[in-house]
Amino acid sequence: MEYKTIFVQLLHDQIGEHFEKAKIKRMLEKPKYEAIGDLAFPCFDLAKIYRKSPHQIAEELMKNISWPPIFQQVEAVNGYINIFLNRNEVSAKVIHEILEKKAAFGQSSFGKNNVITIDFSSPNIAKPFSMGHLRSTVIGNSLALIAEKCGYQVIRINHLGDWGTQFGKLIVAYKMWGKEQVVKKNPIKELLKLYIRFHEEAEHDESLNEAGRAWFKKLENNHPEALELWKWFREESWKEFSKIYELLGVSFDSTDGEAFYNDKMDIVIKELKDKGLLEESEGAEIVELGASYPPCLIKKKDGTTLYATRDLAAAIYRKNKYNSVKSLYVVGHEQSLHFKQIFLVLKKMGHEWYEGLEHVPFGMMLKNGKKMSTRKGKIVLLEEVLNDAIELALENMEQKNPTLSSKEIVAQQVGTGAVIFHDLKNYRLNDVEFSLEEMLKFEGDTGPYVQYTHARASALLRKGNYKEIEWTEAQFDEEAWPIVKELIEFPEVIKRAYDGNDPSLIAKYVIQLSKKFNQYYGKVRILAESENKQVRLSLVSAVQIVLREGLRLLGVDAPEEM
Ligand code: ARG
Repeated sequence: MEYKTIFVQLLHDQIGEHFEKAKIKRMLEKPKYEAIGDLAFPCFDLAKIYRKSPHQIAEELMKNISWPPIFQQVEAVNGYINIFLNRNEVSAKVIHEILEKKAAFGQSSFGKNNVITIDFSSPNIAKPFSMGHLRSTVIGNSLALIAEKCGYQVIRINHLGDWGTQFGKLIVAYKMWGKEQVVKKNPIKELLKLYIRFHEEAEHDESLNEAGRAWFKKLENNHPEALELWKWFREESWKEFSKIYELLGVSFDSTDGEAFYNDKMDIVIKELKDKGLLEESEGAEIVELGASYPPCLIKKKDGTTLYATRDLAAAIYRKNKYNSVKSLYVVGHEQSLHFKQIFLVLKKMGHEWYEGLEHVPFGMMLKNGKKMSTRKGKIVLLEEVLNDAIELALENMEQKNPTLSSKEIVAQQVGTGAVIFHDLKNYRLNDVEFSLEEMLKFEGDTGPYVQYTHARASALLRKGNYKEIEWTEAQFDEEAWPIVKELIEFPEVIKRAYDGNDPSLIAKYVIQLSKKFNQYYGKVRILAESENKQVRLSLVSAVQIVLREGLRLLGVDAPEEM
C-alpha cells in the first residue's frame, strides 16, 4: 500500500520542475501527534523558490491537487500540507496485500539477476569459535537473507582461517607435547591448549618460534607429514564448527578457506610485478599505498605469503567465478585497515570492480564491560554458550508452559533466537554486552518477547477458528490503526536494512510491531463473538505473517507455541 508513493507523485505533478521524486520523498515528515495528521509535507523550501509564504504555497498546492479518496482529509497548517489517511481503506488494502502475499510481503526485485557474495563467519582452524566470529556469523547470515529478499542471488562464503604461520607453531607444539587420543576427544580445546603452551614456552625459548617458522615453510612446500597434520586439524575443527552452524541454522555455498588460494597467488604476484606495483623493502615484497596508508605486505623475507596476499587472490578468484556486483566482508572493525589496503591494491591494479567490495565492520562482544577473549584462561566456548541459552530457555518453558509438547525443539529455537536477536538489535558498530539473563527475558526488547508475541498471535488464530474470508466492507477498530501503520512500513524497513547493511532496523521493527500488537491485545477483545471477529483475526494474521518473516530475516525461528 504505497500511499507515500501516491502522495509523492501528486506533489511531483505540481512541483516536479524544482524537486525530484526522491527529494520529495525525503522531505516528507511524520507529524509528532496523530491529531495533526498521518503525513506532512513542509513548504518552506518552496517558499524561497516561489517567493511566497509557506502557508500560501501549502494552500495553493492543496487546492490544485485532486486528492484520491485514500486521503480522507487534507489541511494546510503552518506551512505544511497535512494528510489524514482514510484509515479503513488503507487498513483494508494493506491487510489484503499481506494475506495475499504472505511471506513474500516486502519482497522486492531490484536485485534481480545480480549476484552478491558475502564473506562471513570465517573462524580460524584449531582455535575456538570466538564471540567475534559469532557476531560475523549472525550479522552475515541476516545480511544474506535480506539481500535475497531484495532479489539478489547470494553466495555465502566461509573464508576459513586455515593457513598461516600459526600452523607451523601448532605442528611443533603437537609434535612435542600432543597426544592423538587426547586431541581426538576434544580437538578444539586440546589444540588451543597446545597453542597457548607454545606461546608461553616461546617467551623464553626463541628456538621454538624458529621451529614454528620452519614447519610452516615445510607446510607451504607440501611436506607430507606437515600436510597430514594440517588436514587432520582442519577436519576436526570443521566438525566442531558444524555443530554451531547447525544450532544457528546457518549454511554456506563455499568453505574454501585461505589454503585454497595457495596455488592462486603466484599469478596475482606476477600481475603486481608486471604492472610495476611490487617493490622490495628489507627483503620483503610490498605494494606502496601512498602517504595515508602503510604499504601492503605481499611476501615476507622468507618467501612465505600472508593473509593479505590470500585475500587479494580470493577477491580476484571470486570476481571471476561469480561475477558479483557487490562483495561484503563481515569482519570486526579491527581489520578495517587490512581491507582498506586490499581494496586499494586492487584499485592500483586497475580492477574497477574494487568499488563493489565493502568491509562491513562490527563492534566487540563484551562481558562486564570487557572484551571476551579466547586467549589465555578466558576462553568462552560458543557451543557451551548456546547450550546454556537453550537450557535456560527450557527452564523458562517448564515454568511458563509445562504442558507444551516438543519443548526441546522450542527451547532450541528460543535459546538460539535469544542469542541472535540480542546481537542484531543493536547497530552493528556498537559493542554488545553479553548477558544470558538479559537476552532470555520474555519482556523487554528481546528475541523471546517477539517470538512470544508471534506465538500469541498464532494461538489467537487457532482459538478464534480464523478463516481467510473475502471481506470487502471491513470495519477496523480505531485501536488497529497503530498496528496498520507499522505493517505498512515493513517493505521500506527491509530496503533500508539492505542499503545500510543494518539488520538492527528489522530487529527494532519487529519489537515495535510486537509492542503495538500487545497494546491492541490488552485493549480489544479480539475473540469476542461479533460480526467483526474475522476482520480482527485477519489483522492478527497479518501481524503473525510479518513477525514471522521479520524474524526469519534475522535468522530467528518463530515457534507457533511456546
Ligand atoms: N579468519 C579471519 C579472522 O578470524 C577472518 C577472515 C575474514 N575474511 C577475509 N576474507 N579476510 O580474523
